[in-house]
Amino acid sequence: MDIVHIGKAKTVYRTENRDEYLMEFRDDVTAFNGKRKTTVPDKGRYNAQISARLFELLEQHGVATHYKALAGDGRMLVKAVEIIPLEIIARNIAAGSVVRKYPFKEGQRLIPPVLVIDFKSDAYGDPMLNDDLIRALRLATEEELATVRELTLRVNAILKDYLNKRGLLLPDFKLEFGKARDGKILVADEISCDTCRLWLKESGQSVDKDVFRYERGDLITAYEEAAKRILH
Ligand SMILES: Nc1ncnc2c1ncn2[C@@H]1O[C@H](COP(=O)(O)OP(=O)(O)O)[C@@H](O)[C@H]1O
Ligand SMILES: [Mg+2]
Repeated sequence: MDIVHIGKAKTVYRTENRDEYLMEFRDDVTAFNGKRKTTVPDKGRYNAQISARLFELLEQHGVATHYKALAGDGRMLVKAVEIIPLEIIARNIAAGSVVRKYPFKEGQRLIPPVLVIDFKSDAYGDPMLNDDLIRALRLATEEELATVRELTLRVNAILKDYLNKRGLLLPDFKLEFGKARDGKILVADEISCDTCRLWLKESGQSVDKDVFRYERGDLITAYEEAAKRILH
């Protein structure tokens, strides 16, 4: 099959339908901009299933996504989009880089949620942007920027509520958006244990990629626990 993009954890393939791509969630895990990597069997399958469930949830709440269907283990059919090279991060609880860079305490509640927009660029190390930089670099129009901000806040409210009912806290997550052929802005990429911080409500234990980043135990046990809660 014709490859559109080989990323750090997924491969995107063209299909016979020009409006549709097949996204393969691989078992590769990377952190710190690819400086650490390994392969964990079943990781791709869990991330694909979790993403599918959360995209379905967003669609049920009227948020348009690129998701079409699961297509076998670790594979997902999606609408082909042109990715807007921004990583929109919503933070509800301080953890990770925000604690290293600013005087927040790990675990501190951030009310209202804090949105941060990074430049999606491996070559430049995903630096943080502001409105002027986004305009000067022509990464998105004012209207697109307003749309992705508003959508991220809506997605945050929907996910937080759904996960909370399943015993999971959502300290933060990253979204990517894309423009479909008809010009519509869709939530794209994935919403999974690789792109969300997820903490067990009862213990504060991480069930996300931090297990790999900070060597907090067995990654697949953590992803399995997250999947168990999110899928049922
Ligand atoms: N619907 C889509 N159409 C086209 N590209 C997409 C779509 N959804 C996600 N992508 C892109 O596919 C790639 C997925 O692979 P990934 O391993 O996450 O890459 P990366 O190393 O850039 O994070 C990303 O570059 C992402 O922006
Ligand atoms: Mg990615």
